[in-house]
Amino acid sequence: MNWITNTLGTSIGKKLFMAVTGLGFIGFLAGHLAGNLTIYGGKDAFNGYAEHLHALGPLLTVAEIGLLTFAAIHVGVGIYLFFQNYAARPVRYAVNKTGGGRTIGSQTMPYTGILILLFIIFHLLNFHFVDKTHTTIFEIVANAFANPIYVMIYVAAMIVVAVHVSHGFWSAFQTIGANHPKYMPIIQVVGIVFSILVGIGFGFIPIYVSILA
Ligand code: HEM
Repeated sequence: MNWITNTLGTSIGKKLFMAVTGLGFIGFLAGHLAGNLTIYGGKDAFNGYAEHLHALGPLLTVAEIGLLTFAAIHVGVGIYLFFQNYAARPVRYAVNKTGGGRTIGSQTMPYTGILILLFIIFHLLNFHFVDKTHTTIFEIVANAFANPIYVMIYVAAMIVVAVHVSHGFWSAFQTIGANHPKYMPIIQVVGIVFSILVGIGFGFIPIYVSILA
């Protein structure tokens, strides 16, 4: 376990932990989106998907513990890096903030990150830590999105997730050493396409369900 503390002790090591856990979340998002799209197949398709997922039993528990560990590392190291960067530059320069390859995504990473953390707590309280006896997951989701405030919160959160992922995707690949001039432009395009898919794919679900409900 010594290698963990050694790696975390260096600057590049911290970035590596952010990159690996971030890539884990990208994988999770792709899987979660694919599963959630079954909602377009109707109530039975969505409930069937949830049942299959829960039938995994201990495997699902292992995946959940993995996600929680990744989240603790990603959030903990992210907050540490934010304060470290802040302390390193207490004086704000009057610079062109969008210059030097900086984008909205890269400049807002800590803020979109905190918003996503708040969203995930809200999201788990809505759909995960709920009494699932005498109801179905489709009913729980449909009841939530019958409320326009929930629809607005979810749509706004999906835009925030898409902005965070738009920078996180290529940044993670760059950190793990994939910054070859030949591959980086492709990785950047794939990152943008993936973040648009995440934003629209997840973001349209609450709207669709609210019209259905
Ligand atoms: C419209 C968008 C979304 C919908 C309708 C949705 C739906 C759901 C549902 C129904 C569950 C509960 C599954 C169950 O316990 O049976 C769930 C779990 C979860 N969702 Fe989402 N989700 C959405 C977006 C997101 C996003 C963008 C993230 C991450 C940024 C996310 C992260 C999670 C996590 C971490 C869990 C817990 C997984 C587990 O413990 O098995 N979800 N979601």
